[in-house]
Amino acid sequence: MAAQLRAARRRGHALAALAVAAAGGLLAAATLGSGPAGAAGTPLRDLAEAKGSYFGTAVTQSNLGNSTLTAVAGAQFDMVTPGNEMKWDTTESSASNFNFGPGDQIVSFAKAHSMRVRGHTLVWHSQLPSWVGNLPKTQVQAAMENHITTQTTHYKGQVYSWDVVNEPFNEDGSLRTSPFYNAMGSGYIADALRTARAADPNAKLYLNDYNIEGTNAKSDAMYQLVSSLKSQGVPIDGVGLESHFIVGQVPSTMKANIQRFAALGVDVAITELDDRMQVPASAANLAQQATDYATVISNCLAVSRCVGVSQWGVGDADSWIPGAFSGYGAATMYDNTYQPKASYTSAATALGGAAGSPSPSSSPSSSPSPSTPPSGSGCKVGTQVSAWNTGLTENITVTNTGGSALNGWSVKFTLPGGQSVSSAWNATVSPASGQVTATNLPYNAALPAGGSVSFGFNADHTGNTAAATGFSLNGVACTAG
Ligand code: G3I
Repeated sequence: MAAQLRAARRRGHALAALAVAAAGGLLAAATLGSGPAGAAGTPLRDLAEAKGSYFGTAVTQSNLGNSTLTAVAGAQFDMVTPGNEMKWDTTESSASNFNFGPGDQIVSFAKAHSMRVRGHTLVWHSQLPSWVGNLPKTQVQAAMENHITTQTTHYKGQVYSWDVVNEPFNEDGSLRTSPFYNAMGSGYIADALRTARAADPNAKLYLNDYNIEGTNAKSDAMYQLVSSLKSQGVPIDGVGLESHFIVGQVPSTMKANIQRFAALGVDVAITELDDRMQVPASAANLAQQATDYATVISNCLAVSRCVGVSQWGVGDADSWIPGAFSGYGAATMYDNTYQPKASYTSAATALGGAAGSPSPSSSPSSSPSPSTPPSGSGCKVGTQVSAWNTGLTENITVTNTGGSALNGWSVKFTLPGGQSVSSAWNATVSPASGQVTATNLPYNAALPAGGSVSFGFNADHTGNTAAATGFSLNGVACTAG
């Protein structure tokens, strides 16, 4: 029965993916989901489902306007967390004035692609409108209960789970102060859980936090809290480990930590996985990221009550990391043009897929997708500028110094201030200024190991005629030469 359900869901989402592709006039997605679970090129969602798990992503309302992003999200992921749309500042920006429009759009997207929804989040100190903090303490409990009841009732039957309380702890394991803690003490957590259960008895109720992935003071505090809630009969179904990692820093105690929560009789979910690094990304860091993704997924799969993994965002272009951590990025499995990275391949492999076979068919590009740079890949770049008073011509030659042929390439670089591209040859170049991306044309997509490709552009300038800098090839930083 479970296998039939999985097969039906696979058929459903393949049709949805085809509809998305067709709407965009895109043919390459036609092979989505065509392979059996576990075979080469099988989407992450099917691989996860074959293991009784799921693979999710965060999607925001503004993401829904990006057809590349939504095609990848619908094809590869089977769980959606609204990035911001179910937070208090959106759903109840003024007292008892509810707005579920943005969250409803995310739910509609999920339904259209046979995805489930992790509701995020009901009670959180952040993205909380000021009116809540300005309430007299005697009125906070009623406001919190009204918020939870109204929101969970609206989404009843449409969400798999709720992050009922988000990020309740400080790093030392003490409870964070918030309008809720300040008014009700630690009892606000049990009250929130009971209120959510009363309104929607079928949603899984979670506590979610960051830096609780390995064993430490904060995760010890979460463990004690869950243990205490269980012993009091408070409805608690799961613990979310956000998992915002830095490359190479997945805690060695993560699996044991998941196991100890599971032993309390609750589910565990990896709720917001990403793995940041300094940008432009080095080959070594991309390879480490691939290892980290496989480690996290394996840690979850090793514990039957670890129900699934969700990434925070679809690709590097929509990730929150560059906005929050200056100089960092490249934190997800898809690069800035939604091409799969080495971490995608390792995730698929960890989920039981065929090794070394990313699923570039998820890309709506009609030209071949870039292959994932293997560890040890690299590139070298030469530039030549001829300038006149208001314009310049720059020719660029990129050599693939890695050991593998690339079947499709994108070269990123930064133009000096005041330069604006007016035309290009042997590549499409966009945007016109700042950090730009040159992408292959169909006739020069193949770039063999050791091979070179040349392209160029004309640009207007306002005085700075220096060559472009900061080159990378398919996400791997290039050296000059
Ligand atoms: O909507 C306003 C827009 O009107 C304004 O022009 C713009 C200018 O900064 O800000 C917009 O709001 C931003 C909002 O995202 C919506 O895009 C906020 O500044 C920005 O701070 C907010 O960031 C969100 C962050 O939570 C807030 O804490 C991120 O998108 C969201 O990905 C992130 O998600 C959290 C999880 O909920 C909990 N765990 C950590 C995770 C990452 O911080």
